[in-house]
Amino acid sequence: MVRAVRGMRDILPQDARMWRHVEDMIQGVIASFAYEEVRLPLLEFTELFARGVGEATDIVEKEMYTLADRDGDSLSLRPEGTASCVRALEESGLLYNQNQRVTYAGPMFRYEKPQKGRYRQFYQIGAEAFGFAGPDVDAELIAIGAACWKALGISQHISLEVNSLGSNEARIAYKEALVAYLTPLKEQLDEDSQRRLLSNPMRILDSKNPATQGLLKLSPQLPDFVDEESKAHFQQLLKILDAMGITYKVNPNLVRGLDYYTHTVFEWVTQDLGSQGAVCAGGRYDGLVKQLGGRNTPAVGFAIGLDRVVLLCELVKLEVKQSADLYICVLGDELRSKGMILARQLRDEMPQTSVRLHMGGGNFKKQLKRADASGATWAILYGEEEAASGELSLKHLRDVSVGQVKLRVEQIAQRITSSI
Ligand code: HAM
Repeated sequence: MVRAVRGMRDILPQDARMWRHVEDMIQGVIASFAYEEVRLPLLEFTELFARGVGEATDIVEKEMYTLADRDGDSLSLRPEGTASCVRALEESGLLYNQNQRVTYAGPMFRYEKPQKGRYRQFYQIGAEAFGFAGPDVDAELIAIGAACWKALGISQHISLEVNSLGSNEARIAYKEALVAYLTPLKEQLDEDSQRRLLSNPMRILDSKNPATQGLLKLSPQLPDFVDEESKAHFQQLLKILDAMGITYKVNPNLVRGLDYYTHTVFEWVTQDLGSQGAVCAGGRYDGLVKQLGGRNTPAVGFAIGLDRVVLLCELVKLEVKQSADLYICVLGDELRSKGMILARQLRDEMPQTSVRLHMGGGNFKKQLKRADASGATWAILYGEEEAASGELSLKHLRDVSVGQVKLRVEQIAQRITSSI
């Protein structure tokens, strides 16, 4: 038997209901903020991510699924959605002199070491806003996250960390100071950080290694390099968050693993999923549109990691309300087509209810066993006697006190929907 590729999971029927619920809730919240959907390709030119996400990032350096197209072009499966989103809107002329608020969803691909909460194919729902320079839109995106956790009932498991990286110039000056401080100490850094010292020094701040963290205590501090304009932007953002009652922690070590960020960055984190604690991350990337060939356009966004949000919802035993399922038991070959017609009629009358029609024959006892195993709340018994009398038996499978009643077809939908 050929197996699934490592790090690529199947989402099986027993889990898909939770996935669907989480996606519906999050997409509902994002739509309520009037963000419009864009659908983007899974494959892009590799160059898009090299220029957008950054040559020196882990993602581009060692995590992309890159392949040669038949005509020799280098393509990559998207490791994230922001660069594609910028490309798509810019290519269609939707960014220049305009405001856009868009959302996207779907699988992303990174060749990471798989573990709980970290996969090679994982799912994001993202939101991006273009053309707004002020801190109000940063706050709006954070408010969307807060509203999603509230809608899912997981707010108490998630907290917000925010930071400001300052302008591009401030970031470059800080990077230089950090490298100057750490270079003489290189031998004492962990292996990953030694490599990053050359390629992506700010990621060293993220290191989980205690010795490295010890060395960082006396290192130059990012907030000292942040320019006045960014500081004011950040202070205004915090003020809006305070006014909205959104609690946060300012984490000066929050730098993010992608190169395009400037000014505000944020992460929603949980303590409940071990080391894969970030369930949503984002920030401002005012320089990216220009870097990819467009004009200077302020931009900010986030992406929610759905795999982790679903894990968290399962962990806190979130109940996914199931619509009243109905199982129709049909006795005898003569009633087969009438059973189909009955099912169609009931589906038309109760579009919210899933109706499953028994197939494969057998007596009512056997069929009711199947009905029970299907998880359905109700069963209808439709045999010769019912066909002759015009009254069907409706049986509640989960509550014996409701028992079994005889009803005409027209009454069944009303009886079921009034019980939901
Ligand atoms: P990111 O931090 O790379 O940012 O990913 C966002 C979220 O996706 C993470 O917080 C995490 O929940 C989830 N995630 C990332 N990698 C994996 C993985 N291997 N397995 C499971 N979940 C994962 C971005 O992708 C940016 N594009 C976010 C953004 C949008 N910034 C501005 N706009």
